[in-house]
Amino acid sequence: EKSWVRLVTAQTPTNIAVIKYWGKRDETLILPINDSLSVTLDPNHLCTTTTVAVSPAFHQDRMWLNGKEISLAGDRFQNCLREIRKRANDVEEEEKGIKIAKKDWENLHVHIASYNNFPTAAGLASSAAGLACLVFSLAKLMNLKEDQAQLSAIARQGSGSACRSLHGGFVKWIMGNNDDGSDSFAVQVTDEKHWDDLVILIAVVSSRQKETSSTSGMRESVETSLLLKHRAQEIVPKRMIQMEEAIKNKDFPSFARLACADSNQFHATCLDTTPPIFYMNDTSHKIISIVEKWNRAETTPQVAYTFDAGPNAVLIARDRKTASLLLRRMLFHFPPGADVDLNSYVLGDKSILQ
Ligand code: PMV
Repeated sequence: EKSWVRLVTAQTPTNIAVIKYWGKRDETLILPINDSLSVTLDPNHLCTTTTVAVSPAFHQDRMWLNGKEISLAGDRFQNCLREIRKRANDVEEEEKGIKIAKKDWENLHVHIASYNNFPTAAGLASSAAGLACLVFSLAKLMNLKEDQAQLSAIARQGSGSACRSLHGGFVKWIMGNNDDGSDSFAVQVTDEKHWDDLVILIAVVSSRQKETSSTSGMRESVETSLLLKHRAQEIVPKRMIQMEEAIKNKDFPSFARLACADSNQFHATCLDTTPPIFYMNDTSHKIISIVEKWNRAETTPQVAYTFDAGPNAVLIARDRKTASLLLRRMLFHFPPGADVDLNSYVLGDKSILQ
């Protein structure tokens, strides 16, 4: 029998939440306790590139991350693979003599090679880009007919925040009400061109201690924090409406106020967890002070900050001029060699600050 290989390559950027997802109501399906909203970064930065291959010569599903083989045995990978295989369709590549019928997919195996263009160990969310890219490339390989929102619901089952990386620009993950997760997916709020004056600066802050994983952190917060319950039920629903308004109107003062407040409340719920979880460190706190002081000294906010489950700061400047000022201020407070490493990323396809 003549052997063949069908290959697909895709690239997916990571995303940064400005209204945070924290807490699951269903851990298997990954259903959140509140909506969340994020910005997807420029695909030239912080992205995952994944090549998937299928061939009758493959005898098992295998995956390599940055050139090193990793196990696909975990439930999250398996759930994604199963959901994609279920939806696979006929594929025909005449020039290569490839003909795969819908029913063949259950007996064919895939090889997956994934690369992050940023250090995995830097504590920058890599699972979002990684799982989104895995789902997107496999969906292309197996000729799925589902749209981005439907694919996002599959990526969600690999890593919650991954569902938001299936779209560019500003994206919201609607928590949904159903128990089966059918209405919990991501939709685009505005595209990547809508607010492209924004400049995102990521300050990689070194941390000594190992952080609590988001999975166990969320579980502990859901079980013990009353503040989290209040946040999910009372605060986030209102904030989502205000944040969407701010983004649609390119209203930077409201955007900054909401993003900073939401990051701080997420970290407050971590502190309200028993035992308390500390993701930010002294350097993170110092960065918050610098930005808060600057914003208060101006008539209107210039920079927003947000921190995920780690000490790194994501700083969003209102425009390029502010971004270059911000970079200079950061370099003044944290000179090269200090415990902060500055990288900059933009929403549009521009490179800044050079
Ligand atoms: O999808 P996870 O399990 O990596 O959780 C991400 C949680 C935060 O990054 C802290 C917030 C968010 O909405 O991305």
